Amino acid sequence: MSIKDEVLRRLEDGDGAAISGEALAKELCVSRNAVFKAVSSLRADGYDVLSSHGGYSLSPQSVALSTHGIKKYLSDERFDVSVFGEVDSTNTVVKDMAERGGREWSVVVAEKQSAGRGRLGRTFLSPRGTGVYFSLLLRPHLPVEQTLKITVAAAVAARRSIEKNSGKRAEIKWVNDIYVGGRKVCGILTEASIDAELSSLRYAVVGVGINISEPQGGFDGEIKNVAGAISETSTGSLRARVIADFLCEFAHIYDAGLEGCIDEYRSCQYLDGKDIIVLRGDEKKSAKALFVDENCRLFVRFDDGTEDSLGSGEVSTKIKT
Ligand code: BTN
Repeated sequence: MSIKDEVLRRLEDGDGAAISGEALAKELCVSRNAVFKAVSSLRADGYDVLSSHGGYSLSPQSVALSTHGIKKYLSDERFDVSVFGEVDSTNTVVKDMAERGGREWSVVVAEKQSAGRGRLGRTFLSPRGTGVYFSLLLRPHLPVEQTLKITVAAAVAARRSIEKNSGKRAEIKWVNDIYVGGRKVCGILTEASIDAELSSLRYAVVGVGINISEPQGGFDGEIKNVAGAISETSTGSLRARVIADFLCEFAHIYDAGLEGCIDEYRSCQYLDGKDIIVLRGDEKKSAKALFVDENCRLFVRFDDGTEDSLGSGEVSTKIKT
């Protein structure tokens, strides 16, 4: 580990308490100048390192993320977390890792994505500092037709992490968006590679994007009336806890065989009872969302009185305004 990483680790462990340059130098067996250089370099990377008579401390308002800062909140040892400043898409990075034999439970986190991807070919706005964007590599022994279980588990884990860290009620908008206060705060993109001969998964990548606070000037464009955030401010420690809690919750559900969270998934559905528009290709039909069944299909009643159950791959839905 570099001197800079060692200094960062101690500042993060200090939880805002000051530690003198002299003490750091002694502990790391380096010169005070080396500590000074490490602090300058951390500041250049976006860490808000304060200096006072007592020494250096990490501001509670510091926004930047680090591997150690996330691992600090992870009670589960299995995760291999890497943090990047900017990537095109963490899903793409993890898919590349998977193709090169990357280890299950590898996690890639980015401060910013230049080409964040959403479901159905959409883009996912991923600015620096106000959100968390990360992807997890899985190598589950699952038949292809059960891939949806991963998506469901991810939605439940994201909902739990968001509720815990925001103190607000979070709901799942079928299939796997998370809504708080009527606004989308989280999107999940699960991508998989399939072994066609065995009809099983080679690997799956679960990508999660959560809006922690609104970007400066607010959300813009077509997401203006839909997107929301879970908090007023976006500190590094809040962002780290949101990621760590998601990972722990997901691992917990995964270890239980991905079963057992379906009731929770069904019971906190945002669309239940709402008037919606069902979009299938170019076709748009008004309906009332009734409920999500045990196979995760959405039951709807169209305005002409006919009812149907919708599969996640076939349609998307919009709330009627
Ligand atoms: C959606 O809302 O349609 C899903 C959005 C998923 C966004 C996350 S952010 C991390 C990961 N990398 C991506 O490019 N997409 C997912």
